[in-house]
Amino acid sequence: MRALLVRGGRVIDPASAVDARVDVLLRDGTVAAVGPALADPGADVLDATGAVVAPGFIDLHTHLREPGDEHKETVASGLAAAAAGGFTTVCAMPNTRPPADDPAVVRTVLELASASGLARVLPIGAVTRDRAGRALADLAELAAAGCVAFSDDGAYVADAALMRSALEWARALGVPLSDHCEDPALVRGGTMNEGPVSARLGLPGAPGAAEVAAVARDLALAALTDAHLHIAHVSTAAACDLIATAKARGLHVTAEVTPHHCFLTERAVMERADVEGLAYDTDARVNPPLRSESDRRACLEALRAGVIDCVATDHAPHARTDKWCEFDRAAPGISGLETALGVLGALVAQGALDLPTAVARLTAGPARAWDLGRRVPGIGSLRPGAPADLVVFDAAREWMVHPARFRSRGRNTPLAGRALRGLVLTTVHGGRVVYRHEEQG
Ligand code: DOR
Repeated sequence: MRALLVRGGRVIDPASAVDARVDVLLRDGTVAAVGPALADPGADVLDATGAVVAPGFIDLHTHLREPGDEHKETVASGLAAAAAGGFTTVCAMPNTRPPADDPAVVRTVLELASASGLARVLPIGAVTRDRAGRALADLAELAAAGCVAFSDDGAYVADAALMRSALEWARALGVPLSDHCEDPALVRGGTMNEGPVSARLGLPGAPGAAEVAAVARDLALAALTDAHLHIAHVSTAAACDLIATAKARGLHVTAEVTPHHCFLTERAVMERADVEGLAYDTDARVNPPLRSESDRRACLEALRAGVIDCVATDHAPHARTDKWCEFDRAAPGISGLETALGVLGALVAQGALDLPTAVARLTAGPARAWDLGRRVPGIGSLRPGAPADLVVFDAAREWMVHPARFRSRGRNTPLAGRALRGLVLTTVHGGRVVYRHEEQG
């Protein structure tokens, strides 16, 4: 493969504290050099003048759906969506059919990923067999098969004693446990946030306390077991406070927030730019649900301050038929890989976040949260020797979300018709261009 010289861009590499107009030379699958006026007569040149160059984004929370639900997404279509969104590494959630509670499923996903070659997949193994919350999966086998975390995402491990055992195993294996914090006893059929909007629409609500109670229990178990607990998709102000306190006490706790919980509120269930006349938008149905404006602001502030380590998409593609139905029958989830940068860019434009911080939360933040450099040296950075994974984007460019243009099979997004800011121009994975933006008429 020929070397690639990315020339003239603003390189933002938070891991190495670089924010400067320099060139990046990629050679033999790694970053060879970063600096002014680099030259390599044998290299292809990618002109990044006027654009930002950053390490390829890392998503700790992606649903790829294969095996079992290929009509929603395949590994190949999910990785094409990742590349289009600037992501070069995605951590694949285990709630496939069958679930990744068995190394054979993990191996299948890894094989499909390397056949596609569009992005790196780091698999996540299930905590419990069949994700049923009754008996532990063979966590040691899953770790040996390459799982970088364990999670029953989509479901809370309601049995506290079982969760304690899971955390003890996770601690022994040196692997984080990514926790879906919604206590089902409090959710009880709720389909959106419990509050004024659910009351107005007459939809059953799930209180924020369902998350807060679950986070509190598991922080106690993390303290008991000394395990690494990762709180997935934080959505409430009170959970942010609990995480801040736990971190201050020295617990090994990390956390992620989704772009949608930073950008939208429960009002999105009844307001959408491109849909009129409908009482509600099933594309805004997601678990945990979109919350109040004060929750949204608190999550965003926690992300800015670093209490929440990173942005994770919770990319949850669904088919049309899963969403074209009554609200309570609609599958929860938002297709998020292709809008993540645009949402963060919109938040930057609002003054809620600065651009280097936004980039950090998509690169160094997730890499550090799960210590992924142990597995892939230099991942999430552009240090010499790091993988040749980077994204070139136009930070100022406004664009409109047209789900029909997604690479993902999941066109389910409440952002359809909305203007976002920050457009991926080129994504490079392993030194190879895996996505290039093409202007649409
Ligand atoms: O909205 C969600 N959808 N939340 C989850 O935790 C699971 C996900 C899915 O798999 O569709």
